[in-house]
Amino acid sequence: MSDLFSRMEPQAPAGQDREPATLAELYDLMAAAEPPGPGVGRFVPGEGPQGAPILFVGEQPGDQEDVQGKPFVGPAGQLLDRALAEAGVPRGEAYVTNAVKRFHFTQRGKRRIHEKPSTGEIRKERWWLDKEIRLVKPRIVVALGATAVQALAGKALPITRSRGPYRWPDERDGYITVHPSYLLRLQDPHERRTAYEAFVGDLQRIGDLAQAGG
Ligand code: URA
Repeated sequence: MSDLFSRMEPQAPAGQDREPATLAELYDLMAAAEPPGPGVGRFVPGEGPQGAPILFVGEQPGDQEDVQGKPFVGPAGQLLDRALAEAGVPRGEAYVTNAVKRFHFTQRGKRRIHEKPSTGEIRKERWWLDKEIRLVKPRIVVALGATAVQALAGKALPITRSRGPYRWPDERDGYITVHPSYLLRLQDPHERRTAYEAFVGDLQRIGDLAQAGG
């Protein structure tokens, strides 16, 4: 194995020598290993059927996800659900999770302002994400945005140039697309519509690839 690849390999956290046998066990271990603190929310596990053909990886839970304890239930999740429906991909075929399982934020008065997870935080959670993917056993692993790409590829890649089918370093079939929050941030209605349609197109292709076996 080359030095470059071994550096990209997810590393087990110190003291973590147990191989979790189930998703429930994995999430219990993760929640205990990563306690909340100031500016760090509750542990939000992935959600969906084990054996789902498609596994989506987002960045981290947002404010709503932290409140409800479920991934992708806020505005970005609602947009993802709508786009999946338009693409003809049943929500029941998807497992949704995040590269980082806790909301990172800065408190400003009553508001909690989203903070992007650091490279160190992303790296720390890669081993767990890898175990999660092995337990769900999807046919295709989809990165939604830059943080998920960094977690899955072990390095940063430009979304615009890498968008489309992608083979992850562990040889798993994958796909890179934008994060739904990116679409929500676009101000110009025409630009937003065009970007949304391209996202639905990605989801259709992902659905086709998952049916074809990845
Ligand atoms: N954004 C994410 O990346 N994940 C969520 O669960 C919600 C919003």
